[in-house]
Amino acid sequence: MSENGRNAVDIVRSVAPEGVVLLENNGILPLSENQKKIALYGAGALLTMKGGTGSGDVDVEHVVNILEALETEGFTITTKDWLNDYQRRHEEGEDRRYAQMDRELEQTGDPLMSIFLRNPQVLVDGADIEPVDEKITDEVAVYVISRISGECADREMKEGDYLLTKAEYRQIKAIAANYQDVIVVLNTGGVIDTNFYREIEGISAMLQISQAGMACGMVLADLLTGKAVPSGHLTATWAKQYADYPASKTFCDNSSNDKTYDEGIFVGYRYFDSFQIEPAYAFGYGKSYTEFAWDFQGMEVKDEKISVEVKVTNCGKCYPGKEVIQAYVSAPQGELVKPYQELRAFAKTKLLAPGESEVLTLQWGVREMASYSEAWAAYILEAGRYLIRIGNSSRNTQPVAAVRLGWDVITTRLENKLAVRQELPEIRPEKCADTEGIPVLMEIDLNAEELHTEVISYEESEESSQGIKSGENTSWSYLDVKNGKASVEELLGQLSAEETVALCVGAGAIGNGAVIDGTSIKVPGAGGETTSMLLRKWGVPAAVLADGPAGLRLMRKYQVRNADNSVVVPPNGFLALTGFERFAGKPPVEPDCHYIEQNTTAVPIGSMMAQTWNPQMFCEIGNLVSGEMKKYGVNIWLAPAMNIHRDPLCGRNFEYYSEDPLVTGVCAAEMTKAIQSTKGCGVAVKHFAANSQETNRFDENSVVSERALREIYLRGFERVIKEADPTMLMSSYNLINGTHTANSKELLTDILRKEWGFKGTVVTDWGTTKNGMRAGWGGKSRSFPGVCMSSGNDLIMPGNPKDREEIADALESGTLSMAELRKCARNIIKLLIRLDIEK
Ligand code: BGC
Repeated sequence: MSENGRNAVDIVRSVAPEGVVLLENNGILPLSENQKKIALYGAGALLTMKGGTGSGDVDVEHVVNILEALETEGFTITTKDWLNDYQRRHEEGEDRRYAQMDRELEQTGDPLMSIFLRNPQVLVDGADIEPVDEKITDEVAVYVISRISGECADREMKEGDYLLTKAEYRQIKAIAANYQDVIVVLNTGGVIDTNFYREIEGISAMLQISQAGMACGMVLADLLTGKAVPSGHLTATWAKQYADYPASKTFCDNSSNDKTYDEGIFVGYRYFDSFQIEPAYAFGYGKSYTEFAWDFQGMEVKDEKISVEVKVTNCGKCYPGKEVIQAYVSAPQGELVKPYQELRAFAKTKLLAPGESEVLTLQWGVREMASYSEAWAAYILEAGRYLIRIGNSSRNTQPVAAVRLGWDVITTRLENKLAVRQELPEIRPEKCADTEGIPVLMEIDLNAEELHTEVISYEESEESSQGIKSGENTSWSYLDVKNGKASVEELLGQLSAEETVALCVGAGAIGNGAVIDGTSIKVPGAGGETTSMLLRKWGVPAAVLADGPAGLRLMRKYQVRNADNSVVVPPNGFLALTGFERFAGKPPVEPDCHYIEQNTTAVPIGSMMAQTWNPQMFCEIGNLVSGEMKKYGVNIWLAPAMNIHRDPLCGRNFEYYSEDPLVTGVCAAEMTKAIQSTKGCGVAVKHFAANSQETNRFDENSVVSERALREIYLRGFERVIKEADPTMLMSSYNLINGTHTANSKELLTDILRKEWGFKGTVVTDWGTTKNGMRAGWGGKSRSFPGVCMSSGNDLIMPGNPKDREEIADALESGTLSMAELRKCARNIIKLLIRLDIEK
């Protein structure tokens, strides 16, 4: 590995402990200095998962697994026989998997990529562990449970996924009987069943190390030795049993495309807390190697902002640590039912030495406490007492303060959008939280008169209705616009309808499901690029877009012809998928070529980043990723991914941040700011919106109330747009209340642009139109290219000549106006200029 590569891994290694959640610890962790013998077990010891699969995967040279990392750290591993046997079983399992894929290819002829994705790697069971006569006291047993999931398929409520396999259970039970000290390590991207911890006696500690990209193994080594301390807190509720999740009744039922979000706003802890269901590990929970005390210091209300000061002290004696303080508000129950409490702010301390203190300020806007009334089409702060609870998890809080509002205030007046077409059940907890009568240390009256009502106008804004004059000058080029000599409108006025259409459709797909047009290869393995069709005549360059979010996903190695430096396109396209070559065959070595490497870094997955609750960590990782974007010529990172964890079985929860919209919005905003602070780098926040599951993702219709949409599923997006001005936003595959998001004017124009003021470019998810490269990938319903344009979805990716034809047809038939199309084209030109792309 190059020095750059090593430095990058070091950055990941320093960030990751902040996202590791210490779930249990009887004091065994960190290990004492003289404890150097580890009995290592579990699939994840060797097959340590750096992240998930699909577009969220990153193609890297080497991931240090847990075995390698512990040995490098100087530990003696006493269970080499068990691990070697596991390696053999794993290889046999892989042989079976590849044979199955070959059979499927022969029988179905389906695209290689879809066969590959529907046959994910299975973690085989290891050998049973024999009992010993006497408890082993001079070794620590470490058992690593790994799970993997990804694009196209949801996780399952079955053994080996959400549940432990019988063998895993037996093995943990055996080591708990054999060893004095047992540590269970969860190398999972999300929630699994943890009942084994409560059922099996003798487990000393349990850590969720999550999936830390290239530093996974090393992070565990650092935490065991105490070189690093864990300071992550959960951003999703870990239930005692899957059936406790409100969406669990319908999530796995794929008998209909309609998914009714019966739970409404009661997602995650909003549900568990309101309905008094005890979780295994609460939202916001995380232990430390030390103990903290916190003390309310005071509250201030100023300029419509509530600030609460909390003094946090490390009251342990041995170890430093960081604590996450969370402020929840219980709003008064009025006409609108409210969850028991909602997170309104959070802050993390610096590394506090034993005895050290820090005063944290937690701040949020008074208006953020308003609830959405569908009847009024408005956000309303209902009169009453707003109780403020401070704590270090949703289940460990103290009521410390309150603010009181004398009468109802409409904070924002909107119009009803995305209305649900069917009756949804009204869900109301039996015992709504009463916010009166609870003693607090401080109470302030809010002045209702000072809270003005914002009224949203849905009129066309001046800028978007500004006419573009055709044919006035025929010599302005893109560079003239970029250099300020001409306006975007002047450039667009010169383009023919065909050229304008071309601008709004990506360069296309090649190979077997791979993306990027063979005629315009800028960065092999990148997710796609915008068109180069207007380059020669008008100088309009292409932008390169690459996935995310767990690093920059490119093809690690490709061939280039010596003669003209042209890139050799492998027969199956640029599929940057680890293990794909073994199935699809290695690309033939061309004569007179040389290899080019694009080494990028796999960073912690989205949910692990969120578990840091630390904006600084987003800066570190964002700077690392933007550095690699610059190095390899990528303009847009197809990240952050920010859908809400509606249910723990969503196959892509690992890419997403949280069940809570505030955490989600803050994380996405921090990541966006970090990436975009490097000139020429932009993000595409995704997948807008309510893209809560993977199986059936092209056809899934999220049937959800307007209130739940606005308060839960759209809320994070609203924050990132208002706070961080992302260059791009990606609409999703699913439908919302019967309309494809890429075809929803209410979503992409009314809400996104008119309500929130989005100024960037909207791109489709890959192949959401029926002509996309993924036609034939399953799923029947697709968005219509012409309607994408009239709805405000500016760019279709990866793009296909058929998309262009259909947009042209829509123009001709009058269902799409030239003015609407030019608005999309303008957003694309502005994007290229903002990204500082010259050629
Ligand atoms: C995924 C997106 C991804 C895109 C490009 C789609 O299948 O849903 O998240 O950015 O592919 O790879």
